[in-house]
Amino acid sequence: MILKANEENIKKASEIIKKGGLVAFPTETVYGLGANALNKDAVIKIFEIKERPLFDPLIVHIDDIKWLEKLTIEFSDIAKKLIEKFWPGPLTIVFRKSEIVPYITTGGLETVAIRMPKNEIALKLIRYSNVPIAAPSANKFGYLSPTNAQMVCEQFKDSIEIILDGGKTEFGIESTIVYIENEEAHILRIGAIEIEEIEKVLNKNVKISQKVKSPGQFKYHYSPITKLKTFKKLEEIKDEIKKYNKVVILTAKKEDINFEDVIYDYFSESGDYREIAKNLFEKLYFYDKIKADIIFAQLVEEKGIGRAIVDRLKKAENRHYGYQEQ
Ligand code: TXA
Ligand code: MG
Repeated sequence: MILKANEENIKKASEIIKKGGLVAFPTETVYGLGANALNKDAVIKIFEIKERPLFDPLIVHIDDIKWLEKLTIEFSDIAKKLIEKFWPGPLTIVFRKSEIVPYITTGGLETVAIRMPKNEIALKLIRYSNVPIAAPSANKFGYLSPTNAQMVCEQFKDSIEIILDGGKTEFGIESTIVYIENEEAHILRIGAIEIEEIEKVLNKNVKISQKVKSPGQFKYHYSPITKLKTFKKLEEIKDEIKKYNKVVILTAKKEDINFEDVIYDYFSESGDYREIAKNLFEKLYFYDKIKADIIFAQLVEEKGIGRAIVDRLKKAENRHYGYQEQ
């Protein structure tokens, strides 16, 4: 059931969390499907309803730094710097976990991924529940992450008791995930915080890691059911579109298109990358539902938030176009 995220309903939702149930709620990135991170029976429900493999660990959301002491056993200087600069905000940091964090939450790992969301509704829900909340994106495994309450509701129907509606999410793309090893930061998932920003704070280059398994690194992920193909310039697809009946073309910014018989839309008016990120999953979701034969989606330059946009589109493409390294 979708409920407006007012005080009363956030409190109601926190009661469900306390009792070991599930609640969907907005964060600044995408909607999450939350449970008490310290309650095994509650966390397992997330995996069941998402149909998510048990080895795929969850992010634990906190409202206060005080939780770090309880949930982790080590704390590097790098982590300190990143927290100071980016929390609350869309940066997830992987720490060594303490005993109280169950292995079900961490997919069997000795580490735990933690973030403090920058969204009042999420922060209040955690505060009122008085526990850290484990929450993956509120979608079926492998599918598009939801950026509004309706998208959550349509995927799960009645199986989530409360979906707190906080409108459309601010970033539209998941948090950046950082892993720290030997005083070096490695990016496990490209996301809403730009790598360049992290490099500025740490004053050194940061690598995108393939080393530590992170299911943000599944070869296909975040994808619509409809076949999706990426392109850079419209010219590239002018012959290929003729092979299909119902074609959707999504460009990065608004264009004058002179192809015939296509459904045309754009991720943003002006081509602003933040705007594209914000609309990305919503547009893909919308055009997935109209059951086209193919969606052609335009890539952007791989800089700043553009990296995360390209990453998500390529992963969506991989559902139908194989698992080649890229
Ligand atoms: O923006 C976000 O991060 C959203 C909102 C709801 O907070 N959450 C989200 O969660 O995207 P999810 O489950 O869809 O993605 C979590 C990612 C997975 O790729 C998972 O493997 C990685 O975090 N992860 C979690 N714990 C980890 C750990 N201990 N080590 C490495 N990766 C971890
Ligand atoms: Mg997800």
